[in-house]
Amino acid sequence: MASKRKKIAVIGGDGIGPSVTQEASLLLALYRDKAGLPIDLWELDLGADRFLRDGVTFPKEIQIAIQRECSAVLLGALGDPRVPGLEHARDILFGMRFGYDLYANVRPVKALSDRLVPLKDKTMKDVDFVVFRENTEGIYVGMGGQFKRGTPDEVAINEDLNTRKGVERIIRAAFEYAKQNKRGHVCMADKSNAMRHAHELWLRVFDEVRREYPEIKSQHLYVDALCLHVIQNPAQFQVVVTNNLFGDIVTDLGAALQGGLGMAASANIHSSDPGRVALFEPVHGSAPPLAGKDIANPFAALLTVGMLLTHLGWPEEEQRIERCVSQAIDERMCTVDVGGHLGTRAAAQWVREQIAKQL
Ligand code: NAD
Ligand code: IPM
Ligand code: MN
Repeated sequence: MASKRKKIAVIGGDGIGPSVTQEASLLLALYRDKAGLPIDLWELDLGADRFLRDGVTFPKEIQIAIQRECSAVLLGALGDPRVPGLEHARDILFGMRFGYDLYANVRPVKALSDRLVPLKDKTMKDVDFVVFRENTEGIYVGMGGQFKRGTPDEVAINEDLNTRKGVERIIRAAFEYAKQNKRGHVCMADKSNAMRHAHELWLRVFDEVRREYPEIKSQHLYVDALCLHVIQNPAQFQVVVTNNLFGDIVTDLGAALQGGLGMAASANIHSSDPGRVALFEPVHGSAPPLAGKDIANPFAALLTVGMLLTHLGWPEEEQRIERCVSQAIDERMCTVDVGGHLGTRAAAQWVREQIAKQL
């Protein structure tokens, strides 16, 4: 029935975004055409080219149509040196994260091959945790301003906004995820020793919420110490919850344990209302120096499709995609950043062929 079909908006964006997203779209099309998944793709022309052409960033009617009609958005990356102010990137990315209130940025840090783990004596078994990054508050809200700009007395302020509701819901989402996925440990990272007001709130709320989950071990770390422990002994982590800025930084660090940004996937969801449109994107950016050369790693985008399919109710397909990507890494049917010799298109096609054989 038409009403049961799931519509997915696709935004390639800038730099390497369109090419990795093209490969991810072809994977979705394979699931639609070969496996008969009831999905429809809706490609949107948004990004730096569009902005430079006609000044459009993220039109209100598109934002509303996505919210009304779509189950998910698949995004490549945004950011282009021709738009140094990043106006379009902020409007589109934050227009969705903030506009749809997608407060949980879920970023798995999972190595899919021993070969990709850069730490001495560690294997893929040591790298398997999930970061819950708060996605609607913190220093990202853009509150603040500049005063006496361009003078020697210039003042620049960005406020770090933390609400009781916002902190509680992301911490709860982390514990709920741990409970549902049999992960017995949640670590909350903040900087409450320096940020006495905002992060004392995180500490207090964490202490309250963790009491509701006595079966799950809880730990608090200052974020600087978290970075140390993630490198020394990543196996101790299962679920990490933190604020918007720290989550951004910690997940690039995490990506390094997975084989680089070309391997890191993410979901932006409203955890307590799973029916709401959700946004799926690789953790990486637009990598301008790699654009147009057929060398960017498409696997983060393919793994992101896996997270999208789990969200829409087909979790076994995420596992299948993971297995096939892992096989591609082991057989070196991958791009140069992860030790292979293939281009973006050929690497993605190889993975799609393995998946197609199984459907
Ligand atoms: P980046 O993630 O684009 O690149 C960081 C490093 O990782 C570079 O060395 C790059 O070559 C490498 N890399 C990234 N993706 C790769 C891939 N798929 N395959 C192989 N190597 C890959 O980060 P940056 O250079 O700091 O930022 C570039 C632009 O992207 C900026 O405008 C930034 O604001 C934007 N950005 C956007 C998003 C997003 O849209 N979600 C995320 C991060 C950065
Ligand atoms: C990410 C990116 C974005 C962020 C930038 C482009 C604003 O780094 O998605 O990780 O900081 O959230
Ligand atoms: Mn980032």
